[in-house]
Amino acid sequence: MLSKKSNKIKYWDTSWDFRTADTKYSNHGYHTYPAMMIPQIARRLIRTYGKNAKVLLDPFMGSGTSLLEATLHQNFKKTYGIDINPLALLISKVKTTSINSELLEKEARRLINKCFDDSESKQKTVKTPDFFNIDFWFKPSVIKDLAIIKTNINSIKNKDVKNFFLLAFSETVRSVSNTRNGEYKLYRMSHAMLEKHNPNTIPCFKKKLYFNLERMEEYEKEQNPKCEVNILAEDTRKLTSIPNNSVDLIVTSPPYGDSKTTVAYGQFSRLGLQWLGYDKGAVISIDKVSLGGIPTKDLKNGLGSPTLKKTLKKIEAQDPRRAKDVLSFYVDFDKCVQELHRVTTEGAFLCFVVGNRTVKGIQIPTDEIVVELFQAKNNYKHHNTFIRNIPHKRMPTKNSPTNKSGNHAVTMNEEWIVILEKQAHD
Ligand SMILES: C[S@@+](CC[C@H](N)C(=O)[O-])C[C@H]1O[C@@H](n2cnc3c(N)ncnc32)[C@H](O)[C@@H]1O
Repeated sequence: MLSKKSNKIKYWDTSWDFRTADTKYSNHGYHTYPAMMIPQIARRLIRTYGKNAKVLLDPFMGSGTSLLEATLHQNFKKTYGIDINPLALLISKVKTTSINSELLEKEARRLINKCFDDSESKQKTVKTPDFFNIDFWFKPSVIKDLAIIKTNINSIKNKDVKNFFLLAFSETVRSVSNTRNGEYKLYRMSHAMLEKHNPNTIPCFKKKLYFNLERMEEYEKEQNPKCEVNILAEDTRKLTSIPNNSVDLIVTSPPYGDSKTTVAYGQFSRLGLQWLGYDKGAVISIDKVSLGGIPTKDLKNGLGSPTLKKTLKKIEAQDPRRAKDVLSFYVDFDKCVQELHRVTTEGAFLCFVVGNRTVKGIQIPTDEIVVELFQAKNNYKHHNTFIRNIPHKRMPTKNSPTNKSGNHAVTMNEEWIVILEKQAHD
């Protein structure tokens, strides 16, 4: 284990832990999302490496932590966020859209009163959605109240206001469903738990809505109105709509590996998205288009990372199929490296917060692989890698390296913050 500053470039630095920090200030606490970056990390990276930056990109935006932080800094003219998950796009859009809080409050009061009235009314009939297994994941009274809320939100004309309410609705869906709390994969509660589970859907929605509303009041005053926010429903592995040489700061946390064996973003988002009206096909495809979603056919690869080659050999010796899963993630990541190289300016800082996960008992040094992939084809200076403990991160501290349920290894108690700078051509 490396001790603090035992090596000039890579060292433990507990000042990045932010052990007791409030991670829900401003709009950061609007909606849960797997493996969120804590805002203090985005803030510090922006302040340290983006003092003169004008354009920030988060190519794996998730819930928009970096984008929201950029809008709280006065120097940025533009931010871009890319994600393939429609739920991530909605969360990030709402978190970075300032709305007059008086208008919101008026609409919220009207909406909540109407929902309570409709719920109590014997005459009122409401159309409920009929997606697959809805009765398995929600109790009948919950389905009825969620349908009432959704129908009333649908009648709101102002798009930003409507999205604001839809986000609180999506968070409510999760908390009133029959899923086990605190899990990102979809697991149903036990029978004993289900018997005791009688959520008050409309009060729960109201509470969430007012929590968000209070924060919007602060955000209205603090955000930089000159910062243009671009939320892109695109794929970072492909050519994006971002112009060449236009981004001077990247702050991001990519997925930790293929979603099948790390974080299942698709599963996490499924119920919320189905209630929001997305069809099953669109929801299921999230994990497929996520990095490493489709395993590579063989273990041949032209990736320029000796560390990856060495690590794959060790995994292959134990399980060639798992080695292919691992490789597919880095093959996709390398496509993103090409795209990030295209869009960044010389002198841009690229900050990656990564996890070095363990497969078959072998830790994969993703922090080193990221550096090697960038340096393989182009001129990037590796400034630092800071290693931090994860005190709060909302993600499993266990995964299944053998792919057998119940056979878990503890991983992801640390993160590696990799700082690269794009240099002029050699
Ligand atoms: C670790 S999460 C990011 C969390 C984010 N930093 C936050 O604070 O919420 C990684 C994100 O990468 C997204 N992602 C996966 N594959 C992608 C791709 N090909 N293009 C763009 N985004 C992708 C996932 O949908 C997920 O939202």
